[in-house]
Amino acid sequence: MNKLTEKVNSRRTFAIISHPDAGKTTITEQMLLFGGIIRNAGTVKARKSGHYATSDWMEIEKKRGISVTSSVMQFEYDNKRINILDTPGHQDFSEDTYRTLMAVDAAVMVIDSAKGVEPQTKKLFKVVKKRGIPIFTFMNKLDRDGRDPLDLTAELEDLLDIECVAMNWPIGMGKQLKGLYDLANKRVELYRHEDDSDRFLPLNEDGTLDNNIALSHDSLFESTLADIELLKEAGNNFDLDKILRGDQTPVFFGSALANFGVETFLKSFVELAPAPKEHELIDNTTIAADDDEFSGFVFKIQANMNPNHRDRIAFIRIGSGEFQKGMDVTLARTNKVIRLNNATEFMSSSRVQVSEAVAGDIIGLYDTGNFQIGDSIYAGKKKIEYPELPQFTPEIFMRVTAKNVMKQKSFHKGMTQLVQEGAVQLYRGYATDDYILGAVGQLQFEVFAFRMKNEYNSEVELTSLGGRVARWINPDQLDPKMSSSRNLLVKDREGEPLFLFENSFAERWFKDKYPDVELTSKL
Ligand code: G4P
Repeated sequence: MNKLTEKVNSRRTFAIISHPDAGKTTITEQMLLFGGIIRNAGTVKARKSGHYATSDWMEIEKKRGISVTSSVMQFEYDNKRINILDTPGHQDFSEDTYRTLMAVDAAVMVIDSAKGVEPQTKKLFKVVKKRGIPIFTFMNKLDRDGRDPLDLTAELEDLLDIECVAMNWPIGMGKQLKGLYDLANKRVELYRHEDDSDRFLPLNEDGTLDNNIALSHDSLFESTLADIELLKEAGNNFDLDKILRGDQTPVFFGSALANFGVETFLKSFVELAPAPKEHELIDNTTIAADDDEFSGFVFKIQANMNPNHRDRIAFIRIGSGEFQKGMDVTLARTNKVIRLNNATEFMSSSRVQVSEAVAGDIIGLYDTGNFQIGDSIYAGKKKIEYPELPQFTPEIFMRVTAKNVMKQKSFHKGMTQLVQEGAVQLYRGYATDDYILGAVGQLQFEVFAFRMKNEYNSEVELTSLGGRVARWINPDQLDPKMSSSRNLLVKDREGEPLFLFENSFAERWFKDKYPDVELTSKL
């Protein structure tokens, strides 16, 4: 195996998807501890709660005490190079969160075992599922009383339409938590143990514990054995192919806060999750991850991280080859050659200069306005162009006008550039040509208004149209009379017509009235 292939094969690049408060930050932090990146629990949390003084975050990020855009954390574990792409867990998540999922090879889904599948998990899951990448599930907060594990996995299968396969199973929970019955490693992992030497108890061939072990007579253990019997008879068999296609999710239990079950999870994850694979290109050919030619695509642009410098950083997922500092690349959209001098890789909250980055890794490039979201870059003679990133259906909408009518020019300039960059989506009233902005999360509007003022010297007035259901309509079937305030007719950037329904009732009413009209949504 050549050196590049070896390096690429050691990469594991993933994102954690969850509903706010399920424990994403806590589990990330435990993983960073295992990776030796941080020494104390609480470091990442402190950042999240705004106690971490990092000068170069956007003003707004500091003000709200949340991470506006996803950062990247890299560490070594079990001879693998792990990249965790952080996705904002706050309810103000944005299109960046979705786009980040386009740059990973696997996803970890963290679920609060008292709450089960929650709305944001469901949305993010849908995007990941569509990509057909593996999804690993961690049922968190086992140290608290939660729902019955059988019930939880059944809900996961029903609501998310994915097969579950249990990798381990709780023995008790909450105050009664005794441990995990580890099917995959044929052992019991104890919750309370003196030291590492008595942390695991091996299971017998038949899946029981030795009689002389007290736990073997515990009614909680017996109840777990009964569940295991049921799983063996009626549950799904572990099927790696299905897992790799995203048709089956391995389910692990544990407590991120108590650091229980996290290491077992991480070990399995690193072993089972795929290394970067070949990538499809726009011309339907593919590029191998260990191809000698460097290539990658921009999945996120973060602007003005430091308001004093007005710099932007384009986040590139390397799709093939190895990055070399100072290398010349071609930007596929314009055929322009750009020298990559200033690249950073991201380590927790501090940025460090890239030492070595290959397919699977993320690099950040200082950008003076060359890049747009979805852009491809490549180093060799052969053009390597990645497919466009999908569009996501916005859920909230605002009408936008310039506060100062004399400043139309800067208003239009800012608007055009920020929309191009993918900060928000722009629609125009079908008949009126009003400017209407659409976003996945509220925060996108705040960032938009902030940047319009700071970068383009244009204050904007935003009037909320509330949450809306966006549905595209076949232009041939369109009759402008179909529109009302409950289903606003607008056109997107390409001039395609769509309705913004006030709510799903309005959509249903419309469908009843016009049963033959086809309505579609983006991802
Ligand atoms: P998020 O990033 O998904 O939003 O969740 P985060 O890790 O911040 O966790 C949300 C809350 O849940 C935190 O409590 C955290 O301590 C708690 N938590 C996370 N994992 C576990 C777990 O395994 N068991 C229990 N019992 N709690 C867990 P908080 O009170 O909101 O914050 P803090 O006071 O701990 O800072």
